[in-house]
Amino acid sequence: MDSALPENSRAMNEKNLELVQQCLKQFDVREEQLRQIQAAVLRDMERALSGQTNPSPTVRMLPTYVRSTPHGTEQGNFLVLELGTSGATLRVLWVTLTGISGPRKEPISWEFTIPMEITLGTGQQLFDFAAGCLVEFLERLKVGSQPIQLGFNFSFPCHQTGLDQSTLISWTKGFRCSGVEGQDVVQLLREAIQRQGAYNIDVVAVVNDTVGTMMSCDPRPQACEIGLVVDTGTNACYMEEARHVGELGEDQGRVCVNVQWGSFGDSGALESVQTPFDLQLDQESLNPGTQRFEKMVGGLYLGELVRLVLIHLAGQRALLGGITSPALLTRGSVHVEHVMEIEDPSHGRARAQAVLQGLGLNPSARDCEQVQQVCGAVSARAAHLCAAALSAILARVKSNQERSHLGIAVATGGRVYEQHPRFSAILQQTVRLLAPDSDTTFVPSEDGRGWGVAIVTAVASRLALHRHHLEETLAPFRLDSEQLKSVQAQMREAMVRGLRGEDSSLPMLPTFVCATPDGTERGDFLALDLGGTNFRVLWVKVGSRSEGGVKITNQVFSIPESVTQGTGQQLFDHIVDCIVDFQKEHGLSGQTLPLGFTFSFPCKQVGLDQGILLNWTKGFKASDCEGQDVVSLLRAAIRRRQGVELNVVAIVNDTVGTMMSCGYEDPHCEVGLIVGTGTNACYMEELCNVSAVPGDKGRMCINMEWGAFGDDSLLQELCTPFDLSVDKASINPGKQRFEKLISGMYLGEIVRHILLHLTRLGVLFRGQVFQCLQTKDIFKTKFLSEIESSDLQRRQVRAILEKLGLPVSCDDALMVREVCQAVSQRAAKLCGAGVAAVVEKIRENRGLEELSVAVGVDGTLYKLHPHFSDQVKDTVRHLAPRCSVRFLQSEDGSGKGAALVTAVACRLAGSTRA
Ligand code: BG6
Ligand code: GLC
Ligand code: GLC
Repeated sequence: MDSALPENSRAMNEKNLELVQQCLKQFDVREEQLRQIQAAVLRDMERALSGQTNPSPTVRMLPTYVRSTPHGTEQGNFLVLELGTSGATLRVLWVTLTGISGPRKEPISWEFTIPMEITLGTGQQLFDFAAGCLVEFLERLKVGSQPIQLGFNFSFPCHQTGLDQSTLISWTKGFRCSGVEGQDVVQLLREAIQRQGAYNIDVVAVVNDTVGTMMSCDPRPQACEIGLVVDTGTNACYMEEARHVGELGEDQGRVCVNVQWGSFGDSGALESVQTPFDLQLDQESLNPGTQRFEKMVGGLYLGELVRLVLIHLAGQRALLGGITSPALLTRGSVHVEHVMEIEDPSHGRARAQAVLQGLGLNPSARDCEQVQQVCGAVSARAAHLCAAALSAILARVKSNQERSHLGIAVATGGRVYEQHPRFSAILQQTVRLLAPDSDTTFVPSEDGRGWGVAIVTAVASRLALHRHHLEETLAPFRLDSEQLKSVQAQMREAMVRGLRGEDSSLPMLPTFVCATPDGTERGDFLALDLGGTNFRVLWVKVGSRSEGGVKITNQVFSIPESVTQGTGQQLFDHIVDCIVDFQKEHGLSGQTLPLGFTFSFPCKQVGLDQGILLNWTKGFKASDCEGQDVVSLLRAAIRRRQGVELNVVAIVNDTVGTMMSCGYEDPHCEVGLIVGTGTNACYMEELCNVSAVPGDKGRMCINMEWGAFGDDSLLQELCTPFDLSVDKASINPGKQRFEKLISGMYLGEIVRHILLHLTRLGVLFRGQVFQCLQTKDIFKTKFLSEIESSDLQRRQVRAILEKLGLPVSCDDALMVREVCQAVSQRAAKLCGAGVAAVVEKIRENRGLEELSVAVGVDGTLYKLHPHFSDQVKDTVRHLAPRCSVRFLQSEDGSGKGAALVTAVACRLAGSTRA
């Protein structure tokens, strides 16, 4: 044809051709540049994962809470709402998942066009529109009133904090509804659905389109671990090792990360490949300066780039005879669909003519050919850039898997990828060039995304069911104010009855300790401390404060279980052996120091040095002791061990020892509290209220033995089936019911029983009942303290559980932590209710409007648990508002207190060895 043209016109044509070629050259990206982009994307990904901010990485790497690719077992009907993938359309789908064996059922789907005034209107308008579409769809489908689970495919950059919590970071791709950025889009959708009021729809998961794409692929033969979308916008996601995602604080398993690569280059990394057309397009867009990569790749922008190039070439008179049209000059008049048609290998030329004519232009055949070239250059560049970014992900996955050769499947979706005649071929070829070590298969997602979103929804609804079970299980542990007030009132009543010698679960035992130390006590004492975590022998030197006050030397001895549960004789012989060893070790042999015996079990005392053991508690079971005077048993053992002389002066409960020990520092300390292996309290009661002891002047310390509170079935309403199991399996069923709700010896067991129950419901550990969960006492109360530490990351919780032999997932770890919290909170609140009853009684005894009092506290649970003490204090403040209560932690154990009781007794008897 050209040969028929006159010479000057041919020259013109050649010049024009050259102008076009020159212009399009700007869209060439050299291999070396692609490799640089690949490396820059990878660097940005790694920096974003580890949370580096200086300078800020431009890809976002958002964790999605999707932790595994589909199992293929997911089943059920799901409603899917898709917003933000394909321009201003909204899709609603009804997806039926049929599990592994069932035939795949085609989803039913409907598309709605979102009017422009809505994409640029208010958030409420947008979500109301979406909810309206859902209703219209369901009405057509005649779904009825069944509960419906909805998966929300919302394809904008969001910060997710759970499968159903997602805050929009910023709009992209032509949307700009007000009042949505910074909001949880799931909540907005829920509210809009509620405003419609027509259907019972629960929004259970929110998913980015890339994730939906990845999840929609058949896991057989090879699971897709990367999702790629090139539609209106572009983006990818992939499965990352959770330990690399700084924000999650986990060290095992994997999580799908939404790369949000559309914003790559927002700080300049794409400058060398950007053309003036890119800059102009960006300037005229709704979000200038952002989404720079997306604006070179995404379908929303390809047509616009072509339009800008055409205007430029026409301006140079290189095209269209230098003539434009009002339509060509109008932003958005060339669509990606036009570009795809024009590039069609067989009908492209004709389509180009039609498209240009549709724009009011009158193209020549040569124009059409050159417009085809323009489209080809713009879309080839998009495919090249997209391949570079995808190759960065492949490199990342490869380094995670530490393999030299990687076989990996990429799920692909989006109109540009699927429908453009050359895009996918160029992309795949470029990936092979840039990532030659990866054997990459590209798998088209079946029904773009909808399917995958339904799968995520199925998983989310399973998790929601688990949460429901968890809440239901833990609800009885969450005591409200009324319940606590009732415990306080019942405790108060039981105290009064116990003091009067009437029927009561509280024995309210007199201790014959009537005075706290006055500071004049002096001398050396021995002390024994039996009944807590450790058995200890102590040498306590009480001097004047100027001499340094009380000095303690102590040694811990073990008591084997065969001894605590053997005969009384064995137990007391063992104790004396330990004392003798201690004396030898510390050069005390041959001296007869006064001895105070902290014996932390319920004893009926008739004097300071006489205590009849009422019953063992806390796992002790030595025979022939109950009903016997413990001091006599000790003295008999001393006699059996010839050549030893000991002077047992006082027997002291640990609560009393603790009160005395703190009382030495602070004379306002008139309550002793133990929350350790067991729990108990003592306090100074008016002697006139104590019917078991004659006399009505002064005060006496009363050992409440509150561990037994509720043994008359008062606490039945509070007891859960787990408490009943713990009680039943204990060595004293039916006894120490209050203690079994509170103290260290039992909390771990309660937790273990709950975990067992939740496992049987399939909520925990994938329903697998591990042997260790069935082992009594395996779950120590110290684990609760460790697991509940607020600064502990999930990975540490997992480490603790794994040490026990429980292979836990992250969700398991979180749930176990919630179980621990529920159990320890209940314990702390009950303990607080008890303390409130005690201090209120003291206040009323003294006829005071306001009481200021200190409580001496000891016990491993109270001391080691990160929140227990605060919860006790809060409860006391709430239930006894007229008492100002200070809690003093005993630092030296109640052994020191026992020595002080002995010292006081010796002082009063005038027999202290100075
Ligand atoms: C200690 C006392 O400090 O606290 C013991 O000396 C007491 O006598 C104990 O029994 C309670 O705590 P635990 O946690 O050891 O039972
Ligand atoms: C935009 C969105 C992103 C989405 C992508 C493809 O980049 O921000 O979330 O995945 O478009 O639709
Ligand atoms: C048990 C004992 C009690 C002791 C408490 C704390 O309840 O019966 O005497 O004070 O444990 O150790």
